[in-house]
Amino acid sequence: MSGTLFGVGVGPGDPELMTIRAWRIVGSVDVVAYIGADGRPSRARATAAAAIRESARLLPIDMPMRSDPAHGQAAYQQAATTIAWELAEGRDVAFLCEGDPLLYGSFIYLMALLQPNFAVEVVPGLPSFVACAAALRQPIARRTETFGIVPGTLPDEELRRRLLALDAAAIIKVGRHAWRVRRVLSDLGLLERAMVVEEVSHGSQEIRSFAAHQDDLPYFATIIIPAREAA
Ligand SMILES: C[S@@+](CC[C@H](N)C(=O)[O-])C[C@H]1O[C@@H](n2cnc3c(N)ncnc32)[C@H](O)[C@@H]1O
Repeated sequence: MSGTLFGVGVGPGDPELMTIRAWRIVGSVDVVAYIGADGRPSRARATAAAAIRESARLLPIDMPMRSDPAHGQAAYQQAATTIAWELAEGRDVAFLCEGDPLLYGSFIYLMALLQPNFAVEVVPGLPSFVACAAALRQPIARRTETFGIVPGTLPDEELRRRLLALDAAAIIKVGRHAWRVRRVLSDLGLLERAMVVEEVSHGSQEIRSFAAHQDDLPYFATIIIPAREAA
């Protein structure tokens, strides 16, 4: 009998924001896998550390965070092969994911590669933008309002078009695109409302107005744009 692959969302960082199911699955599997991007320590593993049993085997997966799609594809294939070997040996594997596994997560690609041959279960996790709204005590959407997640990596025109179609938004993956995003928000009259939450739910969490920022944002930062009425 092959093992089961669990894609486990561990939430945005604070272990208290892991679900009871995530805690139980992480504590029950034979192998705990996680991405160590470019040799950096895994944030998902740090979040779930207290749930991992001592006898579990840790399987760090090297995944360089590069924009070159061909390189990414090869790395996912390699990761899938490593995990497939564990599953074929009958071991259950929990793949730890920050936030929710199916929201811009690496697990999406691993699932596509492994699902044809192995049982896969997804344990949903609290996405970081939800925790950001909570930290700001900011409604995500009310009544007929629309809300969307918009990657800051989109070209200016696309970013503008998508933001115009929404009442409220979370802009993720801003990083070094901050200056472009700032310019687009300013053109749309949204800059004054935009709030940045960095490292949400971590001890290092910071909240500030995006307008007050002149620099790049760290990778683990989200811009929340509240709907006009809520603002
Ligand atoms: C590839 S997406 C992954 C989202 C993740 N699967 C989730 O459900 O939250 C990464 C982006 O999510 C946002 N993010 C993730 N963790 C965060 C945190 N702790 N604080 C603020 N933003 C975060 C940042 O915008 C980051 O660039």
